[in-house]
Amino acid sequence: MKVALIGANGQLGTDLIRTKPEYVDLDPLTRKEMDVRDKDKVEEVLYEVKPDLVINTSAYVKVDLAEEEVEEAFRVNAVGVKNIADACLKIGVPLLHISTDYVFDGGKLPKREPYYEEDTPNPINIYGVSKLAGEHIVRNYLEEHYIVRSSSLYGVAGASGKGGNFPYTILRKAKAGENLKVVNDIYMVPTHTYDLAEGVWRLVLEEHSYGTYHITHTGYCSWYEFAKKILELAGIDAQIEPVKHTEFPTKARRPLWSVLGTKKGIELRSWEEGLERFVRMVKDEG
Ligand SMILES: NC(=O)c1ccc[n+]([C@@H]2O[C@H](COP(=O)([O-])OP(=O)(O)OC[C@H]3O[C@@H](n4cnc5c(N)ncnc54)[C@H](OP(=O)(O)O)[C@@H]3O)[C@@H](O)[C@H]2O)c1
Repeated sequence: MKVALIGANGQLGTDLIRTKPEYVDLDPLTRKEMDVRDKDKVEEVLYEVKPDLVINTSAYVKVDLAEEEVEEAFRVNAVGVKNIADACLKIGVPLLHISTDYVFDGGKLPKREPYYEEDTPNPINIYGVSKLAGEHIVRNYLEEHYIVRSSSLYGVAGASGKGGNFPYTILRKAKAGENLKVVNDIYMVPTHTYDLAEGVWRLVLEEHSYGTYHITHTGYCSWYEFAKKILELAGIDAQIEPVKHTEFPTKARRPLWSVLGTKKGIELRSWEEGLERFVRMVKDEG
């Protein structure tokens, strides 16, 4: 099976390469080789590769900046996705597209039920709106598709689009002796991209039916609880203080609760176990 991977330099892209089953022939495509905003290039490259499946992990991921760079967010997350969907349609291959928990509004706390695949999205920031536009395009232009929503991703590669990720930031600040203040009233499921990548390969290779899937670790936590666990697992003793999200105003509004759940069978281990694996991998890689 030949797979074209778009966004190969990203943290999920990197882990899809690392977890690739032996019998998959993977063609990793970086932005340099194929900018998804360039319709002709997308068609030309995918036509050349002739894959059996296209996986798109590329995205404009700067949630706050997207409030200003609205057009750019849509150029990548909606127009770019349309370019990919059109090329897939033309060459007759399915598309697996990655989306986000930020398509949901979070409702009002205390909400304690996860969002499931059939729940109605209602994004409250431009990034989420642009990602939902991408979902609609995939769903409505391409019958043979998977849409995989996940949340709060971190991987050993770090998010190229964000210049790092949450665990790396916490570790760096703690090691520098900074006092940490972390939001304790926003809940989500932090998800290790290595585990997510394994889930994505399972989805494809076990031939689950096309459609929308939520793939995250099980359980949930606040960003403060996540940060505390990162420090505990890394064996770092640092001052950390829980604060309300209103203490850190951001350009983009964020859902206060974006916990995803699934009724469709691809379940990952707990978020604590995913994090343990990440801390181990970071140590192993020096
Ligand atoms: N990060 C999160 O917390 C999170 C949460 C939920 C869902 N997601 C979704 O998960 C997916 C993967 O995220 P990630 O964390 O792996 O992000 P990432 O590390 O920033 O990777 C995104 C990749 O997209 C590439 N890219 C950006 N614009 C492009 C363009 N115009 N043409 C071609 N490639 C382009 C980037 O290339 P460069 O390396 O050249 O910049 C980068 O390699 C995305 O769809 C994202 O929306 C992310």
